Amino acid sequence: MEGRSVVDTDLPKVGPGASDDADQDGEEADPTTLEYLDHRAVIERGWDLDDPDLFEKAAAAGLDESQYGVIEGDQDQTILQIAEDHGLKWPFQCRSGTCARCAGVLADGEAEMDMNLFLEEEEVEEMDYRLTCTCYPESEKVQLVFNSIHSEYVRSLAQERG
Ligand code: FES
Repeated sequence: MEGRSVVDTDLPKVGPGASDDADQDGEEADPTTLEYLDHRAVIERGWDLDDPDLFEKAAAAGLDESQYGVIEGDQDQTILQIAEDHGLKWPFQCRSGTCARCAGVLADGEAEMDMNLFLEEEEVEEMDYRLTCTCYPESEKVQLVFNSIHSEYVRSLAQERG
């Protein structure tokens, strides 16, 4: 069409069709196991995010599947997509790394964001916060505390940074 140019952008893999098992080369994505825990359960039970036995405590606590569980996904899916594929209703708003509504804390494993317009470097590198809507697992197993928007820290950041 005259007067319009097509811009080739590398957008994050979100939305319908983003969770296909095969990538563009037709190769299967590496699998990952996601063990998740609701930040609200951590707060309510007085648990400590830095406790090395946090997930063991959660596994033994008889939590509902909405609060704790272990699910399978692929490394070409965001952590939020993996949760949604298993029927979990995790919070989100922008789905593009700008609002922190989907924030969580990476407790173990590797997971990197391909878009982050909200968290400071220290919050990612030292405090292990991740935006689950743009964050891809990069290891066979990932442990993640989700729903961190309910923590005082993330809630205050969201208010401060809009
Ligand atoms: S939903 Fe807004 S940063 Fe993830």
